[in-house]
Amino acid sequence: MHIHRYERAWAYFSIGLLIIFFFAVLTAALAAGVQLPSPQGNVDPANLAATDFAEPGLRQLGPQQYEVYMIGQLWSWQPSEITIPQGSKLTLYLTSRDVQHGFKVIDTTINLMVVPGQISRATHVFDTPGTYQIVCHEYCGLQHHTMAAKIIVEAAD
Ligand code: CUA
Repeated sequence: MHIHRYERAWAYFSIGLLIIFFFAVLTAALAAGVQLPSPQGNVDPANLAATDFAEPGLRQLGPQQYEVYMIGQLWSWQPSEITIPQGSKLTLYLTSRDVQHGFKVIDTTINLMVVPGQISRATHVFDTPGTYQIVCHEYCGLQHHTMAAKIIVEAAD
């Protein structure tokens, strides 16, 4: 079968692109730490008081090891501010009390959907001190743009 050389060139180019994309995804997953979020469990959004979300907030698990249980609701995060020392490994557990929200921590790879009835989880090591802004990136109503929070990472002495 005769294949025109331009068509052959495009075929090779396309195959080359697929190979580049494959390694780009592999690099993102293994080297850059991009995590595909997946549901970590289920909760009854009408009865969060009977779950680990009864007392949202930061808990210390060990030296530089923290977890935070956080609730998204119209139109705030609870808690809306947490402070951890530089170098801390923080695991976030999130759920929603009402509608679907988005959860993005600026300057990190943390980017989750926060869905009523479902627990979303992400882990990140905060090596650089500073204030990390959190925004809701799923339109959730009139005050969606005000739904912000922050993680403060304090410099080690
Ligand atoms: Cu919550 Cu937008």
